[in-house]
Amino acid sequence: MTPERILLTAALPYANGSLHLGHMVEYCQADMYARALNRLGQKTIYICANDAHGTPIELNARKAGLAPEAMVAAVHAEHRRDFERFDVAFDHFSSTHSDANREVVRAVYESLRAKGHLEDREVDGTWCDRDQRFLPDRFVKGICPRCGAADQYGDVCEACKATYSPTDLKEPRCALCGEPPVIKKSTHVFFKLSAPDNVAFLRRFIDSGALQDDVANYVRGWIEGGLKDWCISRDGPYFGFPIADRPNKFFYVWMDAPLGYVASSVEWGREHALGFEDLWRSPATRIEHLIGKDIVYFHTLFWPAVLNAVGYTLPSRVHVHGMLTVNGEKMSKTRGTFINAATFAAHLDPQALRYYYASKYGAESNDLDLAMDDLIFKVNGELVNKHANLFSRVSQFLSQKLDNRLGDLPFAAALTLAEPTGDGTMLDLARRVTRACRRMEDFYRGRELSQVVRELGVVADIGNEFMQTAKPWDQLKTDPEAARLTCTFVANVCEALAMYLWPIIPRFATAGARILGRPIDRMDRTALFGLRNRPLGTFERLFDRIDKKTTDKMIEASKDSLGSPKAAPGCAPAVAAAAAVPIGAPHEVAPATAVVAAPKAEIEIDQFRTLDLRVGKIAKAEALPKSKKLLRLEIDLGEPTLRQVVAGIAHVYAPDALVGTRVIVVANLKPAKLFGVTSHGMVLAANSGAKLCLLRPEHELPPGTPVS
Ligand code: 2FM
Ligand code: ZN
Repeated sequence: MTPERILLTAALPYANGSLHLGHMVEYCQADMYARALNRLGQKTIYICANDAHGTPIELNARKAGLAPEAMVAAVHAEHRRDFERFDVAFDHFSSTHSDANREVVRAVYESLRAKGHLEDREVDGTWCDRDQRFLPDRFVKGICPRCGAADQYGDVCEACKATYSPTDLKEPRCALCGEPPVIKKSTHVFFKLSAPDNVAFLRRFIDSGALQDDVANYVRGWIEGGLKDWCISRDGPYFGFPIADRPNKFFYVWMDAPLGYVASSVEWGREHALGFEDLWRSPATRIEHLIGKDIVYFHTLFWPAVLNAVGYTLPSRVHVHGMLTVNGEKMSKTRGTFINAATFAAHLDPQALRYYYASKYGAESNDLDLAMDDLIFKVNGELVNKHANLFSRVSQFLSQKLDNRLGDLPFAAALTLAEPTGDGTMLDLARRVTRACRRMEDFYRGRELSQVVRELGVVADIGNEFMQTAKPWDQLKTDPEAARLTCTFVANVCEALAMYLWPIIPRFATAGARILGRPIDRMDRTALFGLRNRPLGTFERLFDRIDKKTTDKMIEASKDSLGSPKAAPGCAPAVAAAAAVPIGAPHEVAPATAVVAAPKAEIEIDQFRTLDLRVGKIAKAEALPKSKKLLRLEIDLGEPTLRQVVAGIAHVYAPDALVGTRVIVVANLKPAKLFGVTSHGMVLAANSGAKLCLLRPEHELPPGTPVS
């Protein structure tokens, strides 16, 4: 039965750092799927939100000197900007830290309590006395109890893949301060996932066809292996929603995050005269999720069990996609393959990535490799040489030689819907085009996007070969109307391309339709080959070739000069979609990445000019006794004597490495005493919260050079 609408969700990105190309695997795929379904006449609402809660976000915000709400707001704005650049067009992009979500979480909690699904239990927690807090599993590090590997997280060993609890670690220590934690009791709220009713329900759900076969097998294995009840509370301090009837307890981020799907769609519904009941308790709405394979456990066990317990609509599909590798390997900051979405957009048109990803997407959960050479090859060889070129040839020829007007075609459009006969006539070729389009419609519905890209190539080849064989430039000499006919046929092939490319690269396709002089708002093969007896629009360049120099630059710009191959606490990649991982049991997120500070109030240029910024050359650097963070610098500012400046950079820079370095100094800062040493100025550094680096001028300018 066709539902009135599909609610399609993509996993909620943590509001804890920048989006990178690993994220984009998911958001672009879901975006293409939603765009395609809508253009095929199936109303589809693409919903997402920032995942705002949890310890890493709270601590990162604290490090950056921000309230968590301010950090979430700043990251939210950055995410929106990046999504826009990549043409990821959510119908609604909210935050889990919203009133709507607070309300949904409250209602679900009360319903679960009333129905007897929850139980309070006293459990051992890992407590850091110095930090005065319970530590999530990922904030405890130590020696793996199974293989003895050092420096492993409290939930899983990266060396031998053993899973355990933090109390099993040998020589455990707090990832924040390094102190050994102690065990402390605390009472928590558990969802009784292992209750026989829930297990029986989950068995039925797994068999319902909502999951890909390989995923269903995995999940069946987990069920047969025995499910544990799920702790849905956390002790304060915690950035999350407080549990009203349990003092100093908060909902675990993984409880309120998926409920963010509900809340975000309810917010969308308010603007579209649809309520919660229409969206989450009615067969008129079908729920589909797209997720990475690292969060299968949450979405195929906890989530459906909770939905079922409270009587909300279950997902009809949980599509699981594979993870991203770059040049065949896990994304790496040192190799420069951990590429942020913004960095990609600064170097290349994001549509290049969309097209490339589409050429790799399948309905399976296999990993996806972004090979830079292959990206260049596909974009130049297909997108530019085949697709853009066809529009360009027909448009330029028609505008320069034939008054930019299309003629008629020697067959009715409806005839093109029949099977091709193979006789090589224009009608036969048109039928091959519509047949490819019919296949594309099915491939879009089945999320077989690489097959769509293949069919698009078939269509473009038909157009290019036709033009090449008919040679309108020769026809023009003897029979201009024959040349017009050739161009009319090719323009119609272009229209098919614009129509079927749109979900993948919407800006390219929209511009293509502009060139043809007729907008397209649906994907429908019965509407093809009707572009006749009308003027074309004006030509515009659709896509530029890309070259290795640019991708090299992008990789260079992504290299983390201070980074180490293995992320340390405080700078681990925050997010799920980051790297290639096997389908795994749940984990907590590691202490996280970069921070985007909230914007400050505007200032006048004159206020800025009151700063006396100058290039300085560090002449001497030494550690300040008793301080872990401070260095005493002597800086040449082109003045008769060296300036003494104290800088909080000892945890990042060795003193010796700094001598001779040029930095930017605030030269007119009032002197201040730090650890008994007077600082006559300040050196500028960028601080992401997780990482700090000095600002250095690009060239060796003389000390004292003003900066403005
Ligand atoms: O793994 C992640 O990145 C999570 N922020 C995904 C949450 S999806 C949903 F459950 F909210
Ligand atoms: Zn600690």
